[in-house]
Parts: sequence; C-alpha cells; structure tokens
Amino acid sequence: MKTIQIALAGLGNVGSGVFKHLTRNRALFESRTGCSPLITRIAVRTPAKERSISLNGIEPVADWRSLMTDPLPDLFIELMGGTSEALKFTRAVLERGCPLITGNKALLAEHGAELFELSATRGAPLYFEAAAAGGIPIIKTVREALVGNHILSMHAIINGTSNYILTRMASEGLDFAEALADAQHYGYAESDPTLDINGWDAAHKAIILASLAYGFWIDHKQVYVEGIDRVTQSDICYADLLGYTIKLLAIIKATPGTDIEVRVHPALITKSHVLSSVKGVFNAVAIHGDVVGDTLFYGRGAGADATASAVLGDIADAAATLRCAKPAPAFRPHDLYGRCRPIDEIVSQFYLRLAVEDQPGVLAKIAEILGRLDIGILSVIQPEIRDEGAATLVLLLHDAPRKKMQEAASVLADLPCVKAPPHVLWVEHPSDT
Ligand code: NDP
Ligand code: HSE
Repeated sequence: MKTIQIALAGLGNVGSGVFKHLTRNRALFESRTGCSPLITRIAVRTPAKERSISLNGIEPVADWRSLMTDPLPDLFIELMGGTSEALKFTRAVLERGCPLITGNKALLAEHGAELFELSATRGAPLYFEAAAAGGIPIIKTVREALVGNHILSMHAIINGTSNYILTRMASEGLDFAEALADAQHYGYAESDPTLDINGWDAAHKAIILASLAYGFWIDHKQVYVEGIDRVTQSDICYADLLGYTIKLLAIIKATPGTDIEVRVHPALITKSHVLSSVKGVFNAVAIHGDVVGDTLFYGRGAGADATASAVLGDIADAAATLRCAKPAPAFRPHDLYGRCRPIDEIVSQFYLRLAVEDQPGVLAKIAEILGRLDIGILSVIQPEIRDEGAATLVLLLHDAPRKKMQEAASVLADLPCVKAPPHVLWVEHPSDT
C-alpha cells in the first residue's frame, strides 16, 4: 500500500478536524482507496499553543516554508485562511508542481484565475471541495456530475453563520450579537466574522460555483453583495406575516449565450419553498439544469467535522491521481456565456418597509409614486402598531428592474410623510426558472 506523505498548513477548526478524522478512519480510508495518507508535517502560527488533539509526536513549525524542504511531501493541504500567507504558500506549492488541497474560498475567489493557470501550467492538481458549502460535495456535483447540463440557475444558502443567526433570530427572538457569538463558539464563523455578516463569504463561494458553471473566472467587482446586517427582527416578523422567510441567498442564473447573474443578498422566499426550511448551520443548494431539471443538495455548511469530510474526499482524489491518473484540469475555461449582468438591470419582486405619518392620503401618495414608476403592488399590510406617531407600511411589489426600485426608494425618502429611509429587500421565487 502506498503511503501518501502530507504536509498540513493550519491546525485550527478545520485542520484539527482533518487530522482527527484521518487518524480515526484510517483503516476505512485505506481499504477504500488503497493508499495510506499520513500527515507528517504541520505548520501553525503559534507552535506553543495547547491543542485539543494528540499529534502523534509531530512537532508543528511556525513557518510554512519549513514544510517545503526536500524530500517534498506527496501532498500539501492549506487550511490557514486569509489571502496573504495562504497565497504565498499556494503559489510556492503549485510552482513546485505538487498537488494542493485548500478550503480557502476567499483565496480562490480573489486569485482563482492565476492559481488555476499555475496549476495547469505546472501540472499541479488543485482540489477545493471544502471551499463551498462545507460538507456538501457541491464542487464535484457542478464540475463532474452535472457536466452535461447548462446550469440555468442555482439558489444557495451557503453561509452557515448567517443562516444560523437568521434562524435563531426568527425562532428564539435572539439578538444578532448573541447568535453570532454562538456561531463563533461552534467554529462556524470565519476568523474575521465580518465576511460572514457582510455577505462576502457567501459571495466567495458563489464566485467559485458560478465560475465552474459558466467557464470564466468571475471578477468579484461584478458581483452584487449585501449581508444580513440590515435585516431586523421586525423584517423577520413582517415577512412571516406575509408568508415568507428571510434567508441570505446566493443567486446564480444564466441562459446560454446571454449574460449571467451572480448576486448575494438577503431575500424573502415563500415558506412553502424547501429552502425556507433550511435551518441553523445547514446549507442547501438548489440547482436547475437544462437536462436534469430541479436538484437539491443539503448538509452542514460549516464546522470542523463537515468540512473535514470534504477535505478527506479531496485526499482520496489526490491519492488516486498520485497513483496512476493524469490530473484533470481543476478549472477548464470556455466562452459559452457572456458577461456578468449589472445589478441595476436585474428584475425582481421587492419588499418595501416604510415608516410613515399616520395621516389620511399617505398610502395613496405612495401608491401614486410607485404607479408612476410602473411598479405594481402585490400586497400591503399596515399593522396596528404605532411608533411615536409613525405607522409602518409593508408592501410586496411586483417585478421591477432594481434601478427603478432604487429610484422609487429615493423619491419616497424625500416625501415629508416618510419618516425614515425606506427599507428594501429582494423577494425571490427559486422555482421560477
Ligand atoms: P482557524 O482560524 O480556526 O485556523 C487557522 C489555522 O491556521 C490555525 O491553526 C493557525 O495557527 C494557522 N495559521 C494561520 N496563519 C498562519 C501562518 N501564517 N502560518 C502558519 N499557520 C497559520 O480557521 P479555520 O480552521 O476555521 O479555517 C481554515 C480555512 O478553512 C479558512 O480558509 C476557512 O475559510 C476555510 N473553511 C472553514 C470552515 C469552517 O467551518 N471553519 C468551513 C469551510 C472552509 P494557530 O492555531 O497557531 O493560531
Ligand atoms: N464561515 C463559513 C460559514 C464557514 O459560516 O459558512 C464555511 O465555509
């Protein structure tokens, strides 16, 4: 049996999970793959830190360069996070023609084009199943299982931390900070949780999935991103009254030969849609392919164990390639799809919450402005709760280009009867593909 010597950079939540489960399931892994993977070198930031797992005598080093001394290990794993040292490490490994596994979605989203090019020119396989949707094998699905499909749409809950926070806010009325602290405690959040909250962690994953689906590396500047930080407890309650749940959604859509859409933002989805029942740290990706139709992938989207499972799958793929096969390119570009559609051109339903003067004629004035901009009203509620003379109006609006919706919000904001900046959220109907 061939032993695969592995160098691991990063022994935090995910790195420790990989070490633990590789040790625990070694016999199973060996019998299924015919290879024996062995972590022999580890780099961390602080070698003296006490670890929760036994390292079988391995002394971690502080500098990842020490992992690269001759004879080189067979396989490298990057689980440090960040885009600075991780980029240097990744480049160094690929430049030496060595196989690399990473779970670093930020790194791939920002530097994917360069790294895949390097991987192809140096013949160095690059594996990244852990970089999207934690334990759900969604990279393999998009790249391999659905390869015969045009992907017409993906609607994905791919940030476990945001979903966990929104779920606990909705089900227990927990405040935002408390729910975030719990997500950090369970190892779901990034070391800088800003990326989870502001939508960028989900956007990094959306960039990877959309790039694989559409064959060109998507520039992060062309992706519209909004996080859950503007979602309030009252939005959650009003959405509930209207029959909707609020989720942070990554939305990816295309028709062959036309522009694609890639956006991440909170959206109202009907409670009857399967994605609205995805709770806590769970992720789900609903993919509509032109051949397969509707598919749904569900599982834990973050945490040491789920993510370690994805890394173990990559180790098995790397082992198979090391044993015999010529590596398949990690990313194969093509030009069957166009550019990323600007966000202002995207047409959607919207939710509009307004704090207005409790006076006759106010609703008529608002309806008149919306009508003038050709935005129809789907439903409206005005709960009998008044806040210091202001009433709340919650409207669901028919399809409109986002630019028109922005224009409406800005005209409404200038009305004397509107007491606070209008609050707009997207409404998405994932099955309407
Ligand atoms: P952690 O912050 O828990 O762990 C990071 C590890 O990297 C630590 O062991 C740290 O050392 C080490 N490290 C950091 N910088 C350096 C450096 N310059 N040189 C050597 N070692 C370094 O992160 P996670 O385990 O949560 O995440 C790791 C990666 O996996 C990230 O890219 C993340 O986005 C991704 N990921 C995380 C998921 C999760 O659920 N947490 C899920 C999917 C992907 P020390 O221990 O000494 O501080
Ligand atoms: N912070 C990420 C999340 C980890 O919450 O989804 C998994 O990629």
